[in-house]
Amino acid sequence: MVNLRARTPVFCILPSDWAYNVFVCEALIVLLLVQLCMSVCDSQPLTKFSAERKQMVEEQLVAPGRDIKNQRVLDAMATVPRHEFVPNALERFAYVDGPVPIGYGQTISQPFIVAFMTEQLDPKPTDRVLEIGTGSGYQAAVLSRLVAEVYTIEIIEPLARRAEADLKRLGYNNVKVHAGDGYQGWPEHAPFDAIIVTCAPDHIPQPLVEQLRDGRRMVIPVGALENQQLYLLQKHGTKVEQQAVLPVRFVPMTRGP
Ligand SMILES: C[S@@+](CC[C@H](N)C(=O)[O-])C[C@H]1O[C@@H](n2cnc3c(N)ncnc32)[C@H](O)[C@@H]1O
Repeated sequence: MVNLRARTPVFCILPSDWAYNVFVCEALIVLLLVQLCMSVCDSQPLTKFSAERKQMVEEQLVAPGRDIKNQRVLDAMATVPRHEFVPNALERFAYVDGPVPIGYGQTISQPFIVAFMTEQLDPKPTDRVLEIGTGSGYQAAVLSRLVAEVYTIEIIEPLARRAEADLKRLGYNNVKVHAGDGYQGWPEHAPFDAIIVTCAPDHIPQPLVEQLRDGRRMVIPVGALENQQLYLLQKHGTKVEQQAVLPVRFVPMTRGP
């Protein structure tokens, strides 16, 4: 006896196999939809808010008066999904022209400040960079697209652990996070080709100067909340050249026990 079901292609519908073929077609459609949904979900961190990210780059970074020019920095700002580094409830504010709360009384810095500080560092693809003040992990993610290795220190342990998990989840595998007091730097991994400090001490920490490679740069806000300047430092042997580049308002650098 001929087994019609075994020999009939699924899309060739015979009256006797009508119900069977309809079932197979439906199953295939469901499978295709599931696969489509999975691929959309996989690429979501990058595609979601892509229009807002583009607008952020054009209006907040490139626009006259903002003048961020480094194309590698602009590309990194255009691709890192900032909304993944803010609490879910505040996701829709991720691309506004200002800081956003991230819990524990801390904030993710304004996009312009992230781009400006990154540009001041003049990051090179082979650099190893130290960041003090991991916060959400966003600045570390931006740097990770531009340099070889990023070392970042956060004094609030739950923030450090959350940033570490988010960076790993999003595939920023060249970032190492440490929970501790960044005033002391990370001597085991020194010297660094660049150092970026995203909380404000009242003076420039000497351990950080010592851990900066000769000839290279540090950006650091210094001073009390209402009278803070962002400094660009360049180390030349035992001398440190310093230049105030922007008035800013960062949270104070707190000290560990
Ligand atoms: C403005 S937030 C940093 C934003 C962060 N770079 C980002 O991309 O989200 C400043 C951070 O510095 C941290 N901080 C303050 N004092 C510190 C210290 N001594 N060592 C390390 N982190 C410190 C704060 O807890 C806070 O998370």
